Amino acid sequence: METRPDGTIGLYMGITRSGKSTPIKEIVKQRDRVLAFDPKGEYVQMGFVKCETRAELLKALMDTTGAGKIAFVANSRKDFEFWCDCAFNWNRQKEAVLVPEELANVTNSGKAQDSWGRLINQSLAFNPLILATVQRGSEVDKGVMNNASYLHIAQHQTNDDAEYIASKIGVDVSLIPREQYKFIVWRGGKGLLVRSGSIQKKGDKHFFRGIKAGSNRVVPLTVEKNGKFKGVEY
Ligand SMILES: Nc1ncnc2c1ncn2[C@@H]1O[C@H](COP(=O)(O)OP(=O)(O)OP(=O)(O)O)[C@@H](O)[C@H]1O
Ligand SMILES: [Mg+2]
Repeated sequence: METRPDGTIGLYMGITRSGKSTPIKEIVKQRDRVLAFDPKGEYVQMGFVKCETRAELLKALMDTTGAGKIAFVANSRKDFEFWCDCAFNWNRQKEAVLVPEELANVTNSGKAQDSWGRLINQSLAFNPLILATVQRGSEVDKGVMNNASYLHIAQHQTNDDAEYIASKIGVDVSLIPREQYKFIVWRGGKGLLVRSGSIQKKGDKHFFRGIKAGSNRVVPLTVEKNGKFKGVEY
């Protein structure tokens, strides 16, 4: 029997410089069809094709029916809506990795609306891997929080923010990372998949470690191209 393809949404949360984009970059390095909404231009620095206007973005996407890595360096809500429509169609043409960075700048905390809502609610049948970042859990819309296949939770600064996310996912607040480069991974219906996670940096390489569910041992973790840590049951 053929199974229906099912997309994945990973939501990466944490304060600035907490290590949200680092695992995302490790994933996209392993993939050949990627579209980023890139307000800080960091994917351009990784070699993505830089688009600064909607016309440039549209042309780059229409020219790229197979492999290609494209970044839309933009900031406004209107540009984000346009990016979402493009992402929906480009992924429908051929499955892709879609990376909307800094959601709080361009979405609101209510119900996901319009093009963004369509992307997270209706694109999953076309099997995208959506990797989204936001600095505070309270700033993200309910749609992406509820549809997320997993939450990657990095450093939270204030007690309020840590308590907010702890109560959202039903874990003790002491498990929410409060230090830079620390993280946990959680999935609805499963609970904590990785705890006491951390990133180490050697030269320009990043290494991940953490404790997998059902274990008490810190082990190295490898990020795979499907967005998941190898050997962790999602
Ligand atoms: N263990 C580590 N030690 C030192 N530097 C690290 C470590 N882990 C990651 N970094 C570096 O820290 C920087 C910030 O990480 P990253 O970009 O993942 O954070 P972020 O949460 O996405 O931040 P931003 O809010 O700027 O998007 C990166 O340059 C990354 O290479
Ligand atoms: Mg980042």
